[in-house]
Amino acid sequence: MVSRFGVSLDKDILDDLDSFVKTHQFPNRSQAIRYLIQNAIVEEKWIEDKEVVGAIILVYDHHKKNVVNNLLEIQHDFLGSILSSQHAHLDHNNCMETIILKGKASQLKVLGNRLISLKGIKHGKLVMTAV
Ligand code: NI
Repeated sequence: MVSRFGVSLDKDILDDLDSFVKTHQFPNRSQAIRYLIQNAIVEEKWIEDKEVVGAIILVYDHHKKNVVNNLLEIQHDFLGSILSSQHAHLDHNNCMETIILKGKASQLKVLGNRLISLKGIKHGKLVMTAV
């Protein structure tokens, strides 16, 4: 169900909203406001250490010593937080791994930090979201 409500905004903020809508190619203000509210709610859930979902994206050279073993070792220590993972061979050297997570925000952050800081990881990012 969709509810409508009126919002009063200063001209400056409305101008900012409209340029935000344009930059991000939202179809209308409602969609942009929905996105912004959802962002704030997701962020709060993570700050309050609620049950959340997320994903870790990792790029690494699989020739680098121990990186594959260490990645697997850590993931096996966090079985309860990992829903699935996908591996893609990007080119001769590089791999990308996407790990889908569900659990307490603090746990997922610990897992994210451990994986992203591993020796041999070129770049990694924890994407935080929530349902
Ligand atoms: Ni690979």
